[in-house]
Amino acid sequence: RTIYLKDYQAPDYLVDHTDLSFELDPHATLVKSKLKIRRNPAVAQANETLPPLWLDGADLELLSVSINGELLPAHRYQQRAGGLSLSTDAPEFELEVHTRIAPEANTSLEGLYLSNGMYCTQCEAEGFRKITFYPDRPDVMSVFTTTIVAPASYPVLLSNGNKVDSGTTEDGRLRVTWEDPFAKPSYLFALVAGDLQHVEDSFTTCSGREVKLQLFTEARNIGKCAHAMTSLKHSMRWDEEVYGREYDLDIFMIVAVDHFNMGAMENKGLNIFNSACVLASPETATDAAFQRIESIVAHEYFHNWSGNRVTCRDWFQLSLKEGFTVFRDAEFSADMNSRAVKRIEDVTLLRTSQFAEDAGPMSHPVRPDSYMEISNFYTLTVYEKGAEVVRMIHTILGPEAFRRGSDLYFERHDGCAVTCEDFVAAMEDANGADLKQFRRWYSQAGTPVLDVEDTYNEALGEYSLTIRQQTPETPGQKGKLPLHIPITVGLLAEDGSPLRLDDAAGQMEVVLHLTEASQNFTFAGIASRPLPSLLRGFSAPVKLRYDYSSAQLQFLMQHDTDPFNRWDACQRLSINSLQTLQQQYRSGEALQQPAALIEGYAAVLDDAALDPALVAKMLALPSAQEIAEQGGEIDAAAIIAARTFARDAIATALAERFLTRYHALEQHKPYSPTAEDIAERSLKNTCLFYLCAAGSADALALAKGQFERGENMTDTAAALAALVEFGTETQAEGFLQAFYQQWQQDTQVVETWFGLQSGSAKFGTLERVQKLIAHPAFEVKNPNKVRAVIAGFAMRNFTQFHRADGSGYTFLADQVIALDKLNPQIAARLVTPLTRWKKYRAQESAQIHAALQKISVSGELSRDLYEVVSKS
Ligand code: ARG
Ligand code: ZN
Repeated sequence: RTIYLKDYQAPDYLVDHTDLSFELDPHATLVKSKLKIRRNPAVAQANETLPPLWLDGADLELLSVSINGELLPAHRYQQRAGGLSLSTDAPEFELEVHTRIAPEANTSLEGLYLSNGMYCTQCEAEGFRKITFYPDRPDVMSVFTTTIVAPASYPVLLSNGNKVDSGTTEDGRLRVTWEDPFAKPSYLFALVAGDLQHVEDSFTTCSGREVKLQLFTEARNIGKCAHAMTSLKHSMRWDEEVYGREYDLDIFMIVAVDHFNMGAMENKGLNIFNSACVLASPETATDAAFQRIESIVAHEYFHNWSGNRVTCRDWFQLSLKEGFTVFRDAEFSADMNSRAVKRIEDVTLLRTSQFAEDAGPMSHPVRPDSYMEISNFYTLTVYEKGAEVVRMIHTILGPEAFRRGSDLYFERHDGCAVTCEDFVAAMEDANGADLKQFRRWYSQAGTPVLDVEDTYNEALGEYSLTIRQQTPETPGQKGKLPLHIPITVGLLAEDGSPLRLDDAAGQMEVVLHLTEASQNFTFAGIASRPLPSLLRGFSAPVKLRYDYSSAQLQFLMQHDTDPFNRWDACQRLSINSLQTLQQQYRSGEALQQPAALIEGYAAVLDDAALDPALVAKMLALPSAQEIAEQGGEIDAAAIIAARTFARDAIATALAERFLTRYHALEQHKPYSPTAEDIAERSLKNTCLFYLCAAGSADALALAKGQFERGENMTDTAAALAALVEFGTETQAEGFLQAFYQQWQQDTQVVETWFGLQSGSAKFGTLERVQKLIAHPAFEVKNPNKVRAVIAGFAMRNFTQFHRADGSGYTFLADQVIALDKLNPQIAARLVTPLTRWKKYRAQESAQIHAALQKISVSGELSRDLYEVVSKS
């Protein structure tokens, strides 16, 4: 069954108060809910017959239903697939429902479930209906009171809001009551119960209120909380300073759980995190993990305003909170670390994965028009492209006007469930701006392609750009309209200096507003032909084509004042070289040295003034997935051949430079996850990787030394990755064994260990991945382990997954079929690589399609998996 945005109807009934009580038991948890219900005045008619009350419910055992304290006779309610319908005889009443659930049997990790013996919940989007019968939709907002009763072996009992009561029951169980004064939708409800330790800190808000901060984990992880706590305090300060948003409760709690479908969840006052996204120590976590944690802690915290205080009317509006909050967390990370590097990482993700989604069978607008299963729409499009849409509003309006718009948005809609339209309207109304055409970004799917041509008129001193836009058709959407696209542009003079583009304002860059299918932009007073620096900072989520020569790209790499575009010029140079190599491979020619690329890389390495983090990003060849996204039929073998050849050619040609730089960057100081130190480690380890790729025994000895010193997980894991990729198989086996011996007690490190193997082009063969699945540390019911091993292979190991015999595809199909029975959300995500079959050469395409077929005829599929498979 498909649900459409156009069918939205306001709820028939509202819930003013929700009083929940839980008697926890793994097999039979008793849930009692008392709801103060009232007819929604916004839809009520005079003298009407009251419509039936609909309550969503799934996998629940219904025990009883009462209204105003009296058991409801059976003819007054009907249990249907997906819920309960009951007839009412008054517009206002108290409903009491008792249900029984079995958290132990819940492997979907939605609703109430157990993770390592700890009870926890995940209710977004529609998990609350697996806890009790309820109007489980975000436009029903209620004040919640929650009482938890559990055996004394669960000393920590948590829920949203403030703890208002606690005690012991007659039979010796613990009882705690929580009250959340802020009305919220059911998806923000949370409950945690376990034998947990915590660290505590406090934050004084801008108005001088003291907020207690607590981070709960199992005892073994208590030493891994400091970084998340620091990140939380930084986030709270940043949101006050940049958005004027103050925290509203007296307590803010975070809980780390090992079994979690996503990264984390912003439940009011009680955020629940995937352990991998919150726990870190220098010995066990890489720099990338430290930075991911900082951004996710911020993301969930920022949701307190963009998501909780102002929430979504319905799930089609998901990007209202997710796109905005991703934009907020990206700006926070940019302020805490290197802005250019953060932007490069985000754009890489967008180009690699969101563009592929936009061009695939599941392509949908930032605000989808329809869905079968909403869990399938927690996508890169809703999150990342949604964030780009908010960023474009920021670019179009400028920072002060954007802030006026966000202030108005929060003030106008505080306590309400609203739409993307309301967000744009607030941005307009606060500034007298016109975003009418801009709104198309919310409803039109697909990645726009821009073609840029330029002319220079020497006699007039005029330079002009002609920009054409076009968005390809996507499933169900033909005849795309022109979008309002902000294009930030700078011009470079022949000597590399930036040109003034507007005499009056003396600006070095301008934002061009492309609104037509084709448009001309002319710059006057330009003394000689300039070189354009286009789409600076990636000012819009588009593919931009301009026919740069290699020499021009090298020039931009050295002289552009926009660091993002220096990197982007290097990317373009790499992509051009890799495409040439692919052509040579396909026509059976000998592959030629990528001379321009090597020259460009050499210049980057020789530029002592360049931020080492930027150098590392420039020297990283685009991933196979990103190369595959360049258009045309994907030829996996050609991509791999081209990329490996280029890598080895670079490694050999620049070996001396890599060695000098490696030694210069060795750190003789304690680990710290500051932007500066991270930058140095990233370049140092890039050098190490190339050194090992060139294959000398000396290089492998360097890696071995770095591995054995084990100064921090960033350096250890990088050394191990190089040894696995470039050492002999026996050596690799030995190092991997040693690493496992040392870290087998640490879940997060074991995940890293799995990922290192499954993602290795050389080591991560299908046979080895099958062994990993049989390894005692692998748990099919733990999404992190599944992601590390199976997604590591299918999504991050292009070489082995696309093995010519097609066995990688069949393997993935079998895994997806098995997982769908346990955890549909994970199965539906894991199947993604098989949905892109149309993009490949005939042989791979047929093999991938056959694997997809295998799934579709395997038996009854979950709604999640069915939607993805049937649309592909
Ligand atoms: N709102 C969460 C976040 O982005 C994600 C929850 C997604 N849950 C799901 N079942 N898809 O912060
Ligand atoms: Zn979010």
